[in-house]
Amino acid sequence: MPQKVQITIDGKSTDLETLVASEGTNVIDVGKLLNEGMYTYDPGFMSTASCDSRITYIDGANGILMYRGYPIEQLAEQSNHLEVAYLLFNGELPSKQQYEDFVAAIIDNQAVDKKFQQIFNGFTTGAHPMSMVGAAVAGLASLYHEGTDIANADDRALTAVRLIAQIPTIAAMAYRHGKGKSFIEPDPGLSYAANFLNMCFGDERNISDTLADAMDRIFILHADHEQNASTSTVRMAGSTECNPFAAISAGVSALWGPSHGGANEAVLNMLTEIGDESRVEEYVAKAKDKDDPFKLMGFGHRVYKNFDPRATVMEESCGRVLDELGIDDEPLLGIAKQLEKIAREDEYFIERKLYPNIDFYSGITLKAMGIPTEMFTVIFTLGRMPGWISHWHEMMSAPYRIARPRQLYLGEHQRDYIDINKR
Ligand code: SDX
Repeated sequence: MPQKVQITIDGKSTDLETLVASEGTNVIDVGKLLNEGMYTYDPGFMSTASCDSRITYIDGANGILMYRGYPIEQLAEQSNHLEVAYLLFNGELPSKQQYEDFVAAIIDNQAVDKKFQQIFNGFTTGAHPMSMVGAAVAGLASLYHEGTDIANADDRALTAVRLIAQIPTIAAMAYRHGKGKSFIEPDPGLSYAANFLNMCFGDERNISDTLADAMDRIFILHADHEQNASTSTVRMAGSTECNPFAAISAGVSALWGPSHGGANEAVLNMLTEIGDESRVEEYVAKAKDKDDPFKLMGFGHRVYKNFDPRATVMEESCGRVLDELGIDDEPLLGIAKQLEKIAREDEYFIERKLYPNIDFYSGITLKAMGIPTEMFTVIFTLGRMPGWISHWHEMMSAPYRIARPRQLYLGEHQRDYIDINKR
């Protein structure tokens, strides 16, 4: 039953409609406030719903994450990334035939236009791969702009297939260009994750099922996360009716920040900087010091205030990868465990409900898999692609308005221009 909400401004009361969620928190529709001459104010959108959605549900207090109603733990254990991508975009798990057709479409679209591959030549070999990936994704618009009608559901589905299919190839090309190596073409005989790993490292190592399975699970865990900063960026950019590849490239840029998807790379750099378990207390003290900008990378979350269910799955996966790779002396894992132990017992972190998030263990897992640190956020980008394009599709599938927030103006009152010679 929707709650009754009434707001009184200078003695005049206005009833505001509440909208009832199928799970979680209901919302107050504040659209009418404009008629009352006021805006809401909520920097960082701490308690603001920017849209309605049916794709992902997070219960931060109870550590619940569901893609289209399916718990992340079940999908990580029993599904695979392409099936999850189909589920996120279409809303239902595919039949066997639908799955086979989707995989075939991905395979058919995973090659990147030969001439377009020259885009990487514009980058120095030391360029961060995220800069190359963001540019390449935006550049794909040049290949598909004329032929994409964003109002057409079939064109939107083809755009999703192209992005999900080509992001591994682009990611691998960015990595290999950065190493001054020639590109490895997609192999249609390999699974999605194995193909990505082979395009990156196929000339230097055997891609085992262990590595491929771990990578696919990492993709699943990163596939979507409701209205996080990068997904909200994709929705905002897409609301202008821009080319979808351009909207997605905006999401890539937003994800790169260390407060968001860049945290996995930052976690590993932090653990490396700490260097030894004996220095963990020193860094925990830095994280608590208000005068020190240092934060514990991989800790805290806007929504999760108990635990991040993905971190739990990732920690288990990390242990499985280390065991199967026969790595039992990963010093960074020891530092991470010590860090987690101390943080969980420390009042500062308990009071602020700061727990390890997905990035805390993903960095260690990726390092154990031999993935270079600069590729961590690229892998997050690869995993999140189905989520971004599913939210864009969901928005484009129903009436929407251009996203255009208002502001609280605190600037100057009107004043007259003064000629430079009289200032
Ligand atoms: C992701 O939104 C999503 O869903 C994101 C994501 C996804 O899948 O898309 O889950 C992926 O981005 C995970 C988060 C990765 N980022 C990090 O690990 C970076 C470290 N974490 C922090 O930067 C921070 O916790 C955020 C950005 C994750 C959350 O920021 P909030 O919600 O704005 O919280 P806040 O910064 O206001 O923190 C509240 C308090 C503050 O202290 P007080 O002012 O109340 O005294 O907690 C403190 C903060 O200083 N705090 C930390 C801390 N995180 C928050 N103190 C030390 N170390 C930290 N990591």
